[in-house]
Amino acid sequence: MKRFLLLAAAFCAAGSPAIAADAQREKFGALPDGRDVEAVVLTNEGGMKVRIIAYGAIVQELTAPGRDGPADVVLGYDGIEGYLEAPNYFGASVGRYANRIAKGSFTLDGKDYQLAINDGPNALHGGVQGFDKRLWTVAEVKSGKDNASVTFTLVSPDGEEGYPGTLSISATYTLSEANELTIDYRAATDAPTVVNLTNHSYFNLAGASSGVSVLDQVLTIPAESYTPVDATLIPTGEFRPVEGTAFDFRKPTRVGDRIRTGGDEQMRFGRGYDHNWVVSRAPVEGLQWLATMEDPASGRVMAIHSNQPGVQFYSGNFLNGTVTGKGGTIYRMGDALCLEPQIFPDTPNQPEFGSARLDPGEAYLNRMVFRFSVAD
Ligand code: GLA
Repeated sequence: MKRFLLLAAAFCAAGSPAIAADAQREKFGALPDGRDVEAVVLTNEGGMKVRIIAYGAIVQELTAPGRDGPADVVLGYDGIEGYLEAPNYFGASVGRYANRIAKGSFTLDGKDYQLAINDGPNALHGGVQGFDKRLWTVAEVKSGKDNASVTFTLVSPDGEEGYPGTLSISATYTLSEANELTIDYRAATDAPTVVNLTNHSYFNLAGASSGVSVLDQVLTIPAESYTPVDATLIPTGEFRPVEGTAFDFRKPTRVGDRIRTGGDEQMRFGRGYDHNWVVSRAPVEGLQWLATMEDPASGRVMAIHSNQPGVQFYSGNFLNGTVTGKGGTIYRMGDALCLEPQIFPDTPNQPEFGSARLDPGEAYLNRMVFRFSVAD
């Protein structure tokens, strides 16, 4: 005991502890079947705080500094009940195939596969019980001088939701002292399959409960083209230039400026933006810039880089005031937007879109970096 006190005294005398970025486990709630849902909270000295829960590997809180102080910039729920009742993919880790696969069917090595249909005639976000509705395992939690991280793991059995091959997945969330949140989705399979994993956070850089619309926030997407869709939001296969359309975000543009462009059928199909922007035709080595979002009022800026070729920009068009989120806030259209780094929707059925295929021995990686800063 005495020795411990001496050590503790020496530690305090040495000044602030060497560990700056911190990861702490806590209990978040329990599932109806009694299983505990843990959360891991990452904090840094730059004023950021990120809470990820083991259910759905969901980003439940993402607090970032602004001119007016810190604000939580993602939609979500205070407790597990909300995520069970009206998940909306808030903050979720989405898979085995993020976004849509036409009619839920595709062919691989001459064999036809039929997935669960859960969005009109199509398969969306991995099916009825996608990865966003699974309890992941907390595999590793680390604190350190430069960053703190947590890794969650999940196994998706062969045939789950109709997908072939047993898929082993990990999701690592790393918060750095440079105010970057990096999410690494990795996967390996024991038989050929298709994979597209992403994170489905809904961002409002003024704060999720601020009442400030994201229509007044500014978006930049450095893409020359996007993939137009049919009335069920399945890509037509075309790469359409953004030039001269409501889809041109190559220069910083207020989100609401052209969102009511009813003359563009694409805006009517999406009820606003719900499309994939093509930044490159295939994944890249390293990282490329996909998007920047800025809130002029608070000065909060979020830049997104990824190794992925596309970004799905969804302007929250299905938020209709029926859901009450964190702090008792009702979420309505315009309260948030999603920017999801990924390969293109329906790639398994679109010969021009490259490949969604993962073979045994290959390593799938979707790395996305959300860098937060405050404009002068
Ligand atoms: C994605 C889709 C949208 C919608 C949301 C979740 O971003 O593209 O159409 O399904 O997920 O509501």
